[in-house]
Amino acid sequence: MKRARVIGTGSYLPEKILTNFDLEKMVDTNNEWIIARTGIEQRRIAADSENTSDLATKAAERALEMAGIGAEEIDLIVVGTITGDYPWPATACIVQNNLGAKNAYAYDVSAACSGFVYALSNATDFLEAGRGQKALVIGSEILSRVIDWSDRNTCVLFGDGAGAVVLDLQEGEAGVLSTHMHSDGSYLELLYQPGFSTRNLPTPEAIADPQNYTLKMQGNEVFKVAVRSLTEVSKEALAANKLSHKDVDLFIPHQANRRILEATAKRLKLTDEQCFINVNKYGNTSGATIPIAMDEAYRQGLLKEGSLVLMAAFGGGFTWGSVLLRW
Ligand code: UT7
Repeated sequence: MKRARVIGTGSYLPEKILTNFDLEKMVDTNNEWIIARTGIEQRRIAADSENTSDLATKAAERALEMAGIGAEEIDLIVVGTITGDYPWPATACIVQNNLGAKNAYAYDVSAACSGFVYALSNATDFLEAGRGQKALVIGSEILSRVIDWSDRNTCVLFGDGAGAVVLDLQEGEAGVLSTHMHSDGSYLELLYQPGFSTRNLPTPEAIADPQNYTLKMQGNEVFKVAVRSLTEVSKEALAANKLSHKDVDLFIPHQANRRILEATAKRLKLTDEQCFINVNKYGNTSGATIPIAMDEAYRQGLLKEGSLVLMAAFGGGFTWGSVLLRW
């Protein structure tokens, strides 16, 4: 059987580091609270000159380099992002042009923190349907530009970054085993960004009030649904493949909050060694957390041929999903 196999990973994190101590000077918060409630110690912030497509391009170049292939070999580029360069065209089209991937078609997926797993699922379906040989899947975000920096409930949580993987359709046991995606639009108001679009026009009055365009979240409500959904969708992936939690070599969950990850891992009966956590270094980079984590895990030697990797994400929409793959 042919499967979509990961043959390259790459990530890019902007240089600027914003620590909890920096945030103490900006809002009424403190390092102890942030670490105790979220596990986050610092996050990266994109330079003014950097766009979401630039972060994505750098991560993609590293993934292509590891895969040892040229950009013209890519048939499809999907970018999971909610902070794209423009409302349209897709950031993926800008990345395509930056890379010179002239044989690829390109589009974005808007699924908030689940953007990368949704994109990975799309690209897997595309390859398995025989529509192409190689795909580039990217998660890239500059959340620092849509955050209310005066709101301590949200500004301590998020960061900027990008991660990418190259998929290649190959015969054998390695590759994506299954994907399971879900949505529930009834939860919109618990986590969303009003922004300026057809529903909310940029009148001078609207522009004057950041409440009209910054991210909104009812954190503790989101927390409960996130733990439940991440657990259920992970179990769904294992059951569909007749595998157990003991078979998982590495669980790579969306990095939103250390407590969410630990509560989910506990419900799944996973040990600390099975669970990859780097939220302490980068905070929540939304659609970029999983590919950044996958790249770090690979480069740390945690992913070897035959490793069973379980990914699960949850985000605004609500959207959630899991991908199970054999490395
Ligand atoms: O990416 C997917 C979507 N996002 C998530 O998954 C995030 C989900 N939610 C969370 O991670 C957590 O709910 C938070 C980290 C956002 C908040 O943690 P919490 O334990 O749920 O705290 P809380 O919102 O219930 O707030 C507890 C207290 C409040 O004070 P009072 O009302 O008890 O006096 C907050 O005002 O902590 C206060 N607080 C803060 N204090 C210091 C909230 N933010 C801060 C802060 N520094 N930055």
